Amino acid sequence: MSAPSVPNKPQHSRRDTALIHGLSTSEVQALSEACIEAKGRAYCPYSKFRVGASLLLTSGQIIRGANVENAAYPVGTCAERTALGTAVVEGARRGDIRALAVATDISPPASPCGMCRQYIREFCEPSMPVLMYDKDGKSTVLTLEQLLPMSFGPESLPMH
Ligand code: THU
Repeated sequence: MSAPSVPNKPQHSRRDTALIHGLSTSEVQALSEACIEAKGRAYCPYSKFRVGASLLLTSGQIIRGANVENAAYPVGTCAERTALGTAVVEGARRGDIRALAVATDISPPASPCGMCRQYIREFCEPSMPVLMYDKDGKSTVLTLEQLLPMSFGPESLPMH
């Protein structure tokens, strides 16, 4: 019997990279559509920099968020934190979030800001994939651990 042929091309497309993180093609599709749609709801009259975010919960529910700015600039909130706050109000807690996606109008894609990385860390596993979509809908995927190595989280506190 002959040995199975081994293709010499890479076997994973960009979309399959997300499959490595345990997401199906349809889950990735739902996340990407939701964050790109949410980007259209951004309130960003000052920066004019639209950001949309989406979360996939273990229940299968998709939660959206967008950046919401304020005339007092520092009061504005990022899309990722808007989405996470909504998820918490919907009843999500640590361990209930399988993936986060974020979309902007730039290329290469934007990644969550430092404050958002820490905010995400409160509710998400370090292994959780973060999908980042550029202006053309192309994505880059990194884990939260890659974005925030050696992170400080709830379990670091003695009271945990
Ligand atoms: N912004 C986000 O929504 N998420 C990020 O991770 C980076 C920045 C928003 C904040 C502000 O409304 C605009 O993008 C420009 O900084």
